[in-house]
Amino acid sequence: MIENNFLIDCHPREPEDRTISPFVETKEGALFYKQQFLNPQFLNLSSQILLFEEQVVVDHYVLLFDRNETLNNYAKTLVECGGKINEGPGQWPDEFCPELESELFQGLSMYFLSASMPSGVILVLIAPSLPEDPLTKMLKERGPNIVHHVAILVDDVSTAVEIWKKKGFFPLSDRPQDDGSLCQWFLSNSVGQIIELISRRKKSLATFSCNNIMGLRLSELNRK
Ligand SMILES: [Fe+2]
Repeated sequence: MIENNFLIDCHPREPEDRTISPFVETKEGALFYKQQFLNPQFLNLSSQILLFEEQVVVDHYVLLFDRNETLNNYAKTLVECGGKINEGPGQWPDEFCPELESELFQGLSMYFLSASMPSGVILVLIAPSLPEDPLTKMLKERGPNIVHHVAILVDDVSTAVEIWKKKGFFPLSDRPQDDGSLCQWFLSNSVGQIIELISRRKKSLATFSCNNIMGLRLSELNRK
C-alpha cells in the first residue's frame, strides 16, 4: 500500500542483486509491485530486469496513487532523494496537450507527474480524477500494488512487438505511434495492463507526446 507518510531512506542498503525485479507476476499474467518497492528503495534499482522471462531495460515505471495528495507526498520524497521532475505535475491531458480534442478523452483525465531518478530510471506517478474512470476501477479491483504500465526501452519497436505478442500481449493500434522523436507501441494483456515499447530517437526524458497520445486514442476509438 502506498502510504501518505513513509520512512524516507534515500540511501538504502545496496540490494544484493541490483537487477531484482520490483514486480510479482501472477499466474494469470498480471503484474503487481512488491510491497518493498513502493518506497524510495526503488531509487536504487537498475533499469535492467527480468520481465515475463525476458531480459529488458525499463524506460519508465508507472505508479498508481489513490489521490493527488498521496502522489504529491511521494513526489516530494523523490525530489528529496535527488529525483528531478520532468513532466507535471498537472492534469492530463488538459494541462499538457490543450490542443487535443477533449471530447475524445472524456473519462480519461488523470493527475500526472514524471521524475527521473539518480539511477537513470524514470518514475511516472498518476492518480485518477474521476470516481468511475478506468484508473479508479483498476485500483478498486486490483489494489494499490497494481502496475498500470511499464515501458520497455528497445531499439526497434517492430521487432520487439513480435516477442510480446508471443507472450499474450496484443497491440492497441495497428502500428506504432511515432512523432519522429518518440516511437511508442502500446500492448495490453487480458487484465488491461500495458506494456509500452518505446524507442528514443532523440535524447529526451519525455514519456509521451501529444501527437502519439492522439494517434493511440484514435486507434482505440476506431477499434470500438
Ligand atoms: Fe508510458
